[in-house]
Amino acid sequence: MYTQAMDMPPPAGEALPKRHLSAVGSPDAAQLTALQAKFDAKIDADGRIEPQDWMPEAYRKTLVRQISQHAHSEIIGMQPEGNWISRAPSLKRKAILLAKVQDEAGHGLYLYSAGETLGTSREEMVQALHEGKAKYSSIFNYPTLTWADVGVIGWLVDGAAIMNQVPICRCSYGPYARAMIRVCKEESFHQRQGFESLMAMMKGTTAQREMVQDAVNRWWWPVLAMFGPPDANSPNSAQGMRWGIKRLSNDELRQRFVDATVPQAKVLGVTLPDPDLKWNDTRQAHDFGEIDWDEFWQVVGGNGPCNAERLATHKKAHAQGAWVREAAEAYAAKRAVDLKAA
Ligand code: 3HC
Repeated sequence: MYTQAMDMPPPAGEALPKRHLSAVGSPDAAQLTALQAKFDAKIDADGRIEPQDWMPEAYRKTLVRQISQHAHSEIIGMQPEGNWISRAPSLKRKAILLAKVQDEAGHGLYLYSAGETLGTSREEMVQALHEGKAKYSSIFNYPTLTWADVGVIGWLVDGAAIMNQVPICRCSYGPYARAMIRVCKEESFHQRQGFESLMAMMKGTTAQREMVQDAVNRWWWPVLAMFGPPDANSPNSAQGMRWGIKRLSNDELRQRFVDATVPQAKVLGVTLPDPDLKWNDTRQAHDFGEIDWDEFWQVVGGNGPCNAERLATHKKAHAQGAWVREAAEAYAAKRAVDLKAA
């Protein structure tokens, strides 16, 4: 259970307490300067900031933005794969896919919990998603047209997610960093099962091999874009790195992903759809072609192939699950009364 440095939930019907500066009252200017200096020193020493610690409002806001977007990505990310649970080609593949999709739900829950330690409730985070104020990863706005897409999501999308998330295990905010440790272990399994599933198809018929290649062709560029805009156009990177929230830049992570994936594609026997992809001896890294950033921003802006469908599905599931939340709250309230009486 995820309990690191978290408060107990408030009684049913009451909002979560806003922590912000409440732990220290309302500090005057001199106290604020001292608190800021203590925070900066901890960041400089690569220490961990915990929920009860004072933190600048901009740091808190950035974390809520990133953690909530990350949580939404995990939950919305269940949809493209969930689409194939009832059509998996065997009982074994179905069981694996079910487990994987459930893992993603769990990741969302750890992340919402980590977000709540910053004083923003899960309800507020979900509301921001529904109102279009919070984003989720661009990658989940692409359709899963064939079974091979499920394997490619495991291999490439989860592979990219691991590349991005392993450095977050060292994030300066303790609850986010700790949540990432388990998430990364599970993502690592997801990536391997995707690769293994594709390998099985590549050893199959010509039609199966073509299906895998077609899926790789469609997912490769959106996966590269998933790391975010180039560093020069990434407004949040510099501050995020200064605060130790981000440890590697978008471009560094993208490059590491390309370098790690090229040999895997060779083992698999697929071609990565980029004529400019080649080893650069001087850089000791692969050169690769230009990403279509217009397409990326279209998708981020809500105009991707599946944006409307993904959000509508989430809203519908959220509304249909209202009775579960109400029942859980009623049970918690009853338990609180019982415990008081005991
Ligand atoms: N999709 C949607 N929006 C994106 C994006 C993407 N792939 N990449 C960047 N953006 C958005 C940013 O959120 C930011 O918008 P905002 O200011 O309104 O929030 C804007 O584009 C500019 O980007 P920046 O590079 O300045 O933003 P960040 O410094 O926050 O970096 C990030 C973006 C690399 C995604 C970073 O937030 C991050 O590392 N987040 C944590 C990991 C995460 O959220 N991963 C999502 C995938 S989870 C997943 O794949 C699930 C698994 O099951 C597969």
